[in-house]
Amino acid sequence: MNFELTEEHKMIRDAARDFAQTELLPGVIERDENQTFPTEQIKKLGKLGFMGMMVSPKYGGAGMDTVSYVLAMEEISKIDASASVIVSVNNSLVCYGIEQYGSEEQKQKYLTKLATGEFIGAFCLSEPEAGSDATSQKTTALDMGDHYIINGTKNWITNGGRSDVYLVIAQTDRDKGHKGINAFIVEKGMEGFDIGPKEDKLGIRGSDTHTLQFNDVKVPKENRIGEDGFGFKFAMKTLSGGRIGIAAQALGIAAGAYELALKYSKERKAFGTEICNHQAIAFKLADMYTDITAARHLVMKAAWDKDEGNDYDISGAMAKLYASKVAMEHTVEAVQIHGGNGFVKDYHVERLMRDAKITQIYEGTSEIQKIIISRSIIKG
Ligand code: CAA
Repeated sequence: MNFELTEEHKMIRDAARDFAQTELLPGVIERDENQTFPTEQIKKLGKLGFMGMMVSPKYGGAGMDTVSYVLAMEEISKIDASASVIVSVNNSLVCYGIEQYGSEEQKQKYLTKLATGEFIGAFCLSEPEAGSDATSQKTTALDMGDHYIINGTKNWITNGGRSDVYLVIAQTDRDKGHKGINAFIVEKGMEGFDIGPKEDKLGIRGSDTHTLQFNDVKVPKENRIGEDGFGFKFAMKTLSGGRIGIAAQALGIAAGAYELALKYSKERKAFGTEICNHQAIAFKLADMYTDITAARHLVMKAAWDKDEGNDYDISGAMAKLYASKVAMEHTVEAVQIHGGNGFVKDYHVERLMRDAKITQIYEGTSEIQKIIISRSIIKG
C-alpha cells in the first residue's frame, strides 16, 4: 500500500493551490456577499484544464485521473467553495455523464466544448417533489417518434442560469417506473425552456442556482443519452462519481477552516499566551486535524477505487457522508476558535461554515448516503 502522491499529483495539487490563492481569494468575500458568479475565474480554470480534468484529450480534456481531480477540488474548495461546485458539476456529472454514456456525436458536439470550459453544464434531476426520491420524476418526456416533448419543473439546479448544456432527467413511461425514465441533453435557448429566478442561498452564494421550466420543449431523439429507459441508471451512476467530487469539496472546506484556525490560534494572545497554548484550543485543533486526515483518506480511497475500475458507490457515499459531517462540525469549531472575529466576514471562517451545510444536502443528503451504505452492508 502506498500513501505517497506521485510527482504529477503534487504538481496538480500545487497548481490548483496557486490558482486558488492568486485568482480566487481576491474578491471571494464580495462575490459571496453579492452572489456574483466567478465568470473570469471559471474561464481561466477552463483554459488550465480544470473544467474537463478527467476527459480524454481526444475530446479536449486534460486526461487526468480521479485522484488528481479530488486534489484540485480540495485546494479550490479551501478558498472558494462556490467556484468548486461549478467545477465539480461540470467535471463529474456533465462531462463524465456524456463521455461515459453519450454517443460519439454527442461527445463531438458537446463534450469537446464542456471539457475546455467554453461551455458550462448543469445536471437536472431534482424537482419540487423529487429530490431524494429520484424515481418519482414528474417531468415528462413524451416520445413523438423523431423527437421528445419535455414538460415540467426542475429545482435547485447548480449552474442553472449559466449553462449552455443541461442534462435533464424525465419520465417517458410512468407505468415502467424507474425503467421508463430517460436522460436528455437540452441546449440553452431551446424554445419553451425558461430559466426561473435565482435562489438566494445560505452558502455557496457565488454559484448560480435556479429553478428551470420546460414547456413543450422539443428535443431531438439523438439528444437522448443511452438506450430508452436508461435515464435513472444514468443518473445513479453519474451521481456516484459526483459524490466523490462533493466529498472533496467538503474536505477542502474543512481543511480551509482548519488552516485558518491554526494560523489564528498561533497569533492571537489571551491570558498571557497565544491561544493555541491553551488546551481548550489545542484539543480542538487535534480533533480537527485527525478528522480531516481521516476524511482525506476516505476521499482518496473513493477516487482510487474509481481510477482502478473498482465499485465506488459505497466508498464514494462513505467519503461524502464523513467529509461533509467533518466540514460542518469543524467549520463551527473554526468560528469558535476565532471568537468574535469568527463572526465577521473578513476572517473567512463564517463563509466556510455557511458553505459547509450544502455538502450534507446536495448530490444526495447524508441520509441518502446512509441508505446506500446500509443497503450494501446488509445485503453483504
Ligand atoms: N448504479 C447503477 N444502478 C443503480 C445505482 C447505481 N449507483 N443505484 C440504483 N441503481 C439501480 C438499481 O439497481 C435498480 O435497478 P433494477 O430495478 O434494474 O435492479 C434501480 O436503479 C432502482 O434502484 P433502487 O430500487 O435502489 O431505487 P430507490 O428508489 O430505492 O432509490 C436512492 C435509490 C439511492 C435513494 C436514489 O433515489 C438516490 O440516489 N436518491 C438521491 C438523488 C440525489 O442524489 N439527488 C441529488 C440531486 S443532483 C444534485 O444535487 C446536482 C447538483 O446540482 C449539485
